Formats: sequence, structure tokens, C-alpha cells
Amino acid sequence: MTTPPPTACPAWQQLGEEAARLRALSLSELFAQDRQRARDCTLAGAGLQLDFSRQRVDSRVLGLLVTLAAERGLPQWRAALYGGEPINVTEQRAVGHTALRAGDAAPGEVRATLARMRGLAQRLRGGGCWRRIVHLGTGGSVLGPQLVVDALGALDTDLEIAFAANIDPLDLGRALAGARPETTLFVVVSKTFTTEETLANARAARRWLGERDPASHFIAVTGNAPAARAFGAGEVLPLPDSIGGRFSLWSAVGLSALCAIGAERFDALLAGAREVDQHFAAAAPERNLPLLMALLGAWNVNFLGAATHAVLPYAHALRLLPAYLQQLEMESNGKCVDREGRALDYATAPVVWGAEGTVGQHSFHQLLHQGTQAVPADFIVAGVNAELDANAEAQADALAFGTADAPLPPYRRHPGNRPSSLIRLERIDALNLGRLLALYEHKVFAQGVIWNINSFDQWGVELGKALARRILSKGT
Ligand code: F6P
Repeated sequence: MTTPPPTACPAWQQLGEEAARLRALSLSELFAQDRQRARDCTLAGAGLQLDFSRQRVDSRVLGLLVTLAAERGLPQWRAALYGGEPINVTEQRAVGHTALRAGDAAPGEVRATLARMRGLAQRLRGGGCWRRIVHLGTGGSVLGPQLVVDALGALDTDLEIAFAANIDPLDLGRALAGARPETTLFVVVSKTFTTEETLANARAARRWLGERDPASHFIAVTGNAPAARAFGAGEVLPLPDSIGGRFSLWSAVGLSALCAIGAERFDALLAGAREVDQHFAAAAPERNLPLLMALLGAWNVNFLGAATHAVLPYAHALRLLPAYLQQLEMESNGKCVDREGRALDYATAPVVWGAEGTVGQHSFHQLLHQGTQAVPADFIVAGVNAELDANAEAQADALAFGTADAPLPPYRRHPGNRPSSLIRLERIDALNLGRLLALYEHKVFAQGVIWNINSFDQWGVELGKALARRILSKGT
């Protein structure tokens, strides 16, 4: 597949011209010009709703963005993703996370691993000797399961699920607080089984167990089974090469989440993601939610000059979502060369950050409303209660429309014209969480296609690891 830069696409060049026009138009004017805007810019798909009426676009810009997706070869790249082609070129790997939730259509080895996970979870949840599961892993080997357990809780089980990611011993110490070695099981998750943070925690856990046989206290999830066995894990679940850490929740990496929420809800999580996979594959571009999110994000970054993007879940259950999306978006698309190795002269992923609403309203929202830079935001509304939903909408309105009322002194005026989207979930449960996470996965994939970058490698994190090893070996 040829990979010309997006800047060579006719739609990109026309979008550049449109940006000057849109910059001069306020969101208030855009709403005044089109009385149907709120309705027309609210789309449903795969059980989710996307309201992008407060984005600084009109129908002409939207049309050009959709054309840009076609000029970038989005349908071909999407077919290559679903078809298992080696689109992760720098590592010569296919990208297999959608196959993990393909249900009956999943490859045999995926179904076999899921069956093993279910069997293990049933045994661990079944009121035997285990009281606590401590999941050891970092980055993509922990963020997804931790988010699921934090969002949905440990349901119908007395098992406590704890996580340790940091090489700072305090993290493991806290995960083990109140635990007894004889009733504690460790799930060590590391694709490479070489990540120093995870191995240091696993070694500390083994010491904490004393004379006990590690084989009965350690399960490993890894693509490096020999290293996991050499460490002493009694059970080793596979993590295929084609599954990147930040896309791995749906694989055996999700074992501790499965232990927490049970097989039925884990199946619902996969089913929610599968619905979005089908939507992304089949929905028309102008109604395709992840694609639209990708295009609007690129519009904000490349044409309106946004450098950051706020994720604002209005649900305490989703408080870990910003951290999860930081890895998903920035590790995937924080790249400065394209697929051909050419240095980029256009921006890629913005800095992703955020916190749960309404908590953030009493801290950084000041900058969102009156700071000198406009920060595009996603408000995630999950029907938790009327107060949360009303606050999310109020914040989005204040950002969009501001207030310049004449009697107000300047320091009380809100400039407005700050773009945001509202993403609505019916409720917070496994099905909707699966939908939400897959929505962002496909957004990230589509942005990688627009920007002509490989979203599936992460060479940028390697140098720091090597330097830390070198510094440590010198004893400084
Ligand atoms: O350092 C970043 C990273 O390589 C992530 O990409 C990955 O999710 C994480 O570390 C953990 O790697 P592993 O699963 O091999 O321990």
C-alpha cells in the first residue's frame, strides 16, 4: 500500500483553506446559522451516542474530512487491520486485537485461551483457598484490567484484586497490605517478560512468599513462556505477538479483570467491543463514530492548532479512563516519522490528559474556560445521575458559548468557542465499557491512517529503558 503524506491530499489542502473561514466563525454563530445543528450532529452507533455539535466544523468541513479519510485509504487500511495483514511494519507484525473479541468467529487459539481463562477464573472465584489476586504488570499490561476492575468492581466474589505497576516498592507494599502469603495468588503480566519494573515486583513477591512453591502462587501471561517458566510460574497463558500491550485487555491480560467481574460480564465486555468493531467496519463514513472522532481530532490538531486533548469522564467509575487513554493515544500516535521514515512536518497525537468530572471543575477547568489556549475535550456522560449529566452539559455549553455580557468585567467573561464532544453511554456496565474502549481504539487506528504513521510500535520508550539499565549498571 502506498503511503503518501496527508499534506499531499487535495482534501488536506482544502481543509487548510477552510480553517481560515472557520476560525472567524464562533460556535454561537454556527448554531444560529443551522437550527438543526444539535440534532444533525448527534449520531448513534453500537449503543453509543456522539454529539459533536460543539466542534468547530460545518457541513463543508465535515464533507472534506470524510473525503480526506477516503484519500488516505482508510477502507483499505481497515481491511488490512481486520484481515490480519502485517500493518505493524517496523515489527513485521499483524495487529490482532479485534480477533480477540470476534466471538464464534475468533481463531481457535483465541477461543482456547479464553476457555482456559474462564476455567482458571471459575476455580479462583469459587471460594477455594485464594483471597487476593495481585496483578503485576505495567503500561498496557496493567492499565486495562485495572480500569475494568476499578469501574465495575469485584462482583459476586470475595476475592480482592490488587495491582502493582511501579518499581517503587510502595506500590507492591500497598497491594499486599493485609494479605497472607498462603491465600495470595500473583498474576504476572508481561508480554516480553523482560520489563524490569514487573520483574522486580515479581521477584519481591516471590521473596514475600517465603518457602512456598512459586508454581502454585504464580500465573504468568506472556509471549515469553520459557522466561516465565524459568521464573517459576506454574501456569503460563499466551500473549501473541500480534497483540500490543495497549490493545491487550481482551486477551489473557484481562485474566484478573475476568476474575473480578466473572465470565458473563467479561463476555459482555468483549461483546461491546465487537459491536464497535462491526460498526467501524460497516457504518458509512459520515455516521461512523470512531472515524468521526478521529477526523475531528485531526481537524483540531492540524487545522485549529490544538496541542492537547482533555478526557473528562463524568463518572467516578471511569476515573482511570484518562490514564488508559493516555497510553492508548500517545504511545500509539506520538510519532514524528511516517511509515516511510520521513520526518513529519505536521502534528500527530496531542497530549491527552484529564480527570473525572465534577472533580476537575474545581481545579483545571479554570484554564479550559479562560486560559489562553483552547483545549478540545471529550465529555463522557454515562447516566450515573442527573447532576453529573447536567454538569457535563453545562461545562460543554460554557466552553462552546461562553459569555461576553457587557455588564460583566473582563475577568468574568468567558471567550467560548472552545470545542468539545459529548459521548453518551446508556449506563456503566461491562457491555458499555467494552464499547467505549473499542471506540477509542478505532479512533486511534483511524488517526494513524490519517497521519500516515505506524500506531502499533513504541520505539520511543526503548531508549529510556536502555539508559536506566546503563546508569544502574555503573552504580551511580
Ligand atoms: O515501556 C512501555 C511498554 O513497552 C508498553 O508498550 C507495554 O505495554 C509495557 O511497557 C509493558 O511491557 P511488557 O508487557 O513487555 O512488560
